[in-house]
Amino acid sequence: MTAQPHMLTMPLAEPALSQAEIDALNVRFADCTAQEILAWGLETYGDRLVIASSFGAEDVVLIDMAAGISRDARIFTLDTGRLHQETYDVMDAVRTKYGISVEVMSPDTVTLQELIRAKGPNSFYASVDNRRECCNVRKMQPLRRALGTADAWVTGLRREQSVTRTDVQFVEIDDSNGGIVKLNPLAAWSEDDVWGYIRDNDVPYNKLHDQGFPSIGCAPCTRAVEPGEDVRAGRWWWEEPELKECGLHPGYFRDLAAAAEAAAQN
Ligand code: ADX
Ligand code: SF4
Repeated sequence: MTAQPHMLTMPLAEPALSQAEIDALNVRFADCTAQEILAWGLETYGDRLVIASSFGAEDVVLIDMAAGISRDARIFTLDTGRLHQETYDVMDAVRTKYGISVEVMSPDTVTLQELIRAKGPNSFYASVDNRRECCNVRKMQPLRRALGTADAWVTGLRREQSVTRTDVQFVEIDDSNGGIVKLNPLAAWSEDDVWGYIRDNDVPYNKLHDQGFPSIGCAPCTRAVEPGEDVRAGRWWWEEPELKECGLHPGYFRDLAAAAEAAAQN
């Protein structure tokens, strides 16, 4: 499929997909490029498709691809209020380079005030429950608002990223978000693929990646990793690897939890 600029018009298909259609698409997408998968999403869902961006390496790749397909592609970010300055810098850089406006989703003010008043600004270090509570207020609730305007969303998830992500498919039904379609065009990409694309296309990227941060989330919950360490070792580094999901992508987490439970019973 050749991607054409400015081709967003009306959605070409009904958004809802059956599991059989999803299975068939995953077979088809195994032979497609990431651009072709993304172009399918943009053509099919038009302005009912949103691209989720934390401005990490995968996400700037997707933004560069989307900008080459349609000027109207919708991009949103969950601005938790605890991001690194370098993340805001790359948000600015892509706004300038591609002339796009980013839909910035902030936490609900009252809910956030109540959380901080009750537990302080750093409650996430005290327990996994506290950490999930903070992620819920700062990420999950804004995510639900963003996805309330969409029939499909795009993420930069890759299977190689984590033990919690080995089952990521190109296209999925997102049961945790009302059954909308979730598209992961980079599911099969390696880290080298990502960085090769960034270099070849001169894509703006988060400067923390040059300082030992392969995966970047909120500032208090992300640190640099040592050479050879897991790419997500610096995310919530005080927690066990299989707990390191904030709830944005729970399907894989649930599967892993179920697998661990089944293994324990055998
Ligand atoms: S996380 O769940 O651990 O935070 P990760 O940082 O690996 O996720 O990013 C995976 C994908 O989730 C990104 O490619 C992006 O699509 C989406 N995502 C993560 N954080 C955000 C954010 N702050 N805003 C929008 N999308 C995000
Ligand atoms: Fe809160 Fe940390 Fe989650 Fe960000 S990553 S929302 S600061 S717990």
